[in-house]
Amino acid sequence: MSTKFLFIESMNILSTIPQYHTLLEIFVILWLIWFISKRYFSRDRTLTEDEIERKLAEWNPEPLINNPQMNHISLNPRCITSRAGKRIVVDGKDCLNLGTHNYLGLTENNEIEKDAIAAIRKYGVGSCGPRGFYGTVDVHLELEERLADYTDTEEAVVYSYGFSTIASAIAAYCKRRDLIFVDEQANFAIQKGLDATKANIIYFKHNDVNDLSNLLMKQAKIDEQNLKKAAKIKRFLIVEGIYMNTGNICPLPELVALCRQYKLRIFIDESISFGTLGKHGKGITEHFDVPKCEIDMIMGSLDWAMGSIGGFCVGTSFIIEHQRLSGLGYCFSASLPPLLTTAAITSLNIMKNNPQLFRSLRDNCIAINEGLQKIHCLECSSFPESPVKHVYLKNKKDRTTEEKLLSKISDKCIENNLAVITPAYLEAEKNIPRPSLRLCVSTLLNKSDIDFAVNVLKNCAEEILSV
Ligand SMILES: *[C@@H]1O[C@H](CO)[C@@H](O)[C@H](O)[C@H]1NC(C)=O
Repeated sequence: MSTKFLFIESMNILSTIPQYHTLLEIFVILWLIWFISKRYFSRDRTLTEDEIERKLAEWNPEPLINNPQMNHISLNPRCITSRAGKRIVVDGKDCLNLGTHNYLGLTENNEIEKDAIAAIRKYGVGSCGPRGFYGTVDVHLELEERLADYTDTEEAVVYSYGFSTIASAIAAYCKRRDLIFVDEQANFAIQKGLDATKANIIYFKHNDVNDLSNLLMKQAKIDEQNLKKAAKIKRFLIVEGIYMNTGNICPLPELVALCRQYKLRIFIDESISFGTLGKHGKGITEHFDVPKCEIDMIMGSLDWAMGSIGGFCVGTSFIIEHQRLSGLGYCFSASLPPLLTTAAITSLNIMKNNPQLFRSLRDNCIAINEGLQKIHCLECSSFPESPVKHVYLKNKKDRTTEEKLLSKISDKCIENNLAVITPAYLEAEKNIPRPSLRLCVSTLLNKSDIDFAVNVLKNCAEEILSV
């Protein structure tokens, strides 16, 4: 009786459901049967020889590498057969060196060499262990303490590789859904750090405070519509002290004011500005007299001014300590070899005891800049006190033509005993900068070296551009 009742009841329900619903169910069931049987039957079927041949012929895989840059300079680099000091032997030609970032001339310093040799005798050559696993040698602790002391910060963390310092440090703090404001000309290490964060990246025009300010205002309007969501997003500003790709200096005081107003944390890549700007070479904060407490983190390089290898980050212990657990380049690379750590410590000693180095570097940067302004077929808009200068063709042409002409000028310079760089960029880079020649200024240059460099560049450029 109850079954019969149930049956009638369900029939009643069925009859009240619209027809299309039933049709849809039937369709889904049929599709499922078809799908399962297809999988079942196709599993056991073996292909005939012909079918295999045909499938192979049809298979057209995506190439592993898309249009490789066959004529990229990295595939055919110039060969150096000497020290890279004030002079450098490039492809057999003895040149005045304006190509490497030896700003303070420390790569050939006797004192550093002596200490590095003593370190090899004591510790050997490599380290063969990450910092957490027998890779922390006493000299690492000493260098970190000395860096914190030199930069007037609480703590420093040292990495064995400059590029990975920047890329690791950014990714240690910025996470998915955070908001990062970045200068559009930020270098490739910063770009790779940003990629690893998966955060929302907002680029502002190079060194343009107004553009950044507009973007921040726009974001503030968006935030007003959902205050709860906005409160959960961390915001960052990432800039370079001096930009590797342009030689321009960042307008730090204005940026810091915006950071305060909009509650942004600011990270500065001081790979170039540390050891070059400021009365004591302490970098961009010293140059603008901005208190260190306004900056959340400073990232620097041991590669350039300090004439060693590696990188570092400085800031408060609360912030920096975090990288010992989450800075990937810190945790998972063998530590900086003790000999290079020792070289960096001695470099810091020299920097501390010889503040006149920074004065003579600044004078040389300005002198080169003045010389460059007198070459009419070229232009240089880099910051006059920057040790990195980009020189562009005065008359704009298309990218390939500019690249070709500049590379001819650079070849001609080498023939005439002057080494300069034609920067090359990877296709993966964002906002690839305009082709240029890059000059690195050093304290080692005297007045006649500078005159020589400017004259050679002028003559070579005029010769190449006149044909
Ligand atoms: C400048 O340095 C060069 C070596 O690069 C040297 O031959 C020359 O005498 C120096 N000139 C002055 C004025 O010191």
